[in-house]
Amino acid sequence: MNKVLFVFMLLLCYFNGLFAQIPTWSEHIALILYANCTKCHHEGGIAPFSLLTYADA
Ligand code: HEC
Repeated sequence: MNKVLFVFMLLLCYFNGLFAQIPTWSEHIALILYANCTKCHHEGGIAPFSLLTYADA
């Protein structure tokens, strides 16, 4: 019984690590763009296109 639990925990850790690697728009990309890019890349800004939304980017 303990072995089954151990393998289950290992699998949980493995999949948790796997999914943690996948960047998402709302958790990762938007933060980077808002901190570095949107001061110029917004409608009417000096850059030629907006980077405010997922579709823009
Ligand atoms: C200081 C203002 C400013 C910031 C900050 C900025 N950009 Fe730009 N960006 C511009 C301007 C102006 C252009 C147009 C340059 C040109 O046409 O020669 C441009 C062009 C671009 C292009 C097109 C390049 C090409 O060869 O056509 C991309 C892609 C781009 N920016 C992405 C980004 C990203 C990603 C960030 C954030 C990491 C960012 N920019 C931050 C002003 C900025």
